This record gives sequence, C-alpha cells and structure tokens, in this order.
Amino acid sequence: MTVWHRSGPGPRDGAPVNPSLRLVRARPEPEFEISVDGAAVPVVPGQSIGAALYGAGVRSWRTTRFGGRPRGLFCGIGVCFDCLVTVNGVPSLRACQTEARPGDRVTTGGGEAQGAGGGGGASTGAGDGAGDGGGNREGGR
Ligand code: FES
Repeated sequence: MTVWHRSGPGPRDGAPVNPSLRLVRARPEPEFEISVDGAAVPVVPGQSIGAALYGAGVRSWRTTRFGGRPRGLFCGIGVCFDCLVTVNGVPSLRACQTEARPGDRVTTGGGEAQGAGGGGGASTGAGDGAGDGGGNREGGR
C-alpha cells in the first residue's frame, strides 16, 4: 500500500494525501477585501459574501422584523432568504448566492425587507420573493 504525505506548508503537513485528490496546478488568485458595514472582510476569490462573512466569524448580520431575532446563513443554498444583504446599493441579495467581488460595499441589518420591488429596480431575479425578506416565515421560528 502506498502512503502519500503532504509536502507543502500547512497545518496538516505529513498527513496522508492521495495525489489524485490534490488540486491540479491550481493557482488561486490573491485574496481581496470587501467592505461590510465599513469593516474590511477578507475574501478568497470565488467565495460568496455569506461564506466570506462566515469565514470572518460573523454568524448573523440582520434581525427579524418581529422579535429582532438574529439571522445569517441558514440553508446556504438560496432557499430561506435569511441571509439578505445590500450590495453596492442593491437591496435584498442573498449573501449565500452572491459572489463577492473586489470593492463590493455590503450593508447589513436593515432595509432589506423593503426589497426589490421598491423602485430601485434591483432584483435577485426569478421572482424569488426577495422583497419580503422571508418575513412571512419569521414569526414561526
Ligand atoms: S442562507 Fe438561505 S437563502 Fe441564503
């Protein structure tokens, strides 16, 4: 039996690794930062805004209209609408479905519930009900 070991730097040096599972010559682009409520949050290229926030230790970034309960990533796949944020002035975007891009200005915690139909023309597309922010379900949780 062949046992492989990691050769590069990292927290798991020496751990067995099957070479077929390694990234093939992957050369990830350098990290960048986005602004979230004025604070810099690091982003690995390709991450969603939700993933970047989670990676930065942020677990909730808005509250429910009724009861003020904290909300952040819940489903992580675009179904629950708990993760709404405003990105570059566009409200009601699902953080879990929105790729972070250099220079993005994200605001959280309010205004998302007024939503996509509020005259700005912004929409998350596909009639996803973003304007309600999932509020119809909030009272039941
Ligand atoms: S976490 Fe459920 S829609 Fe984003």
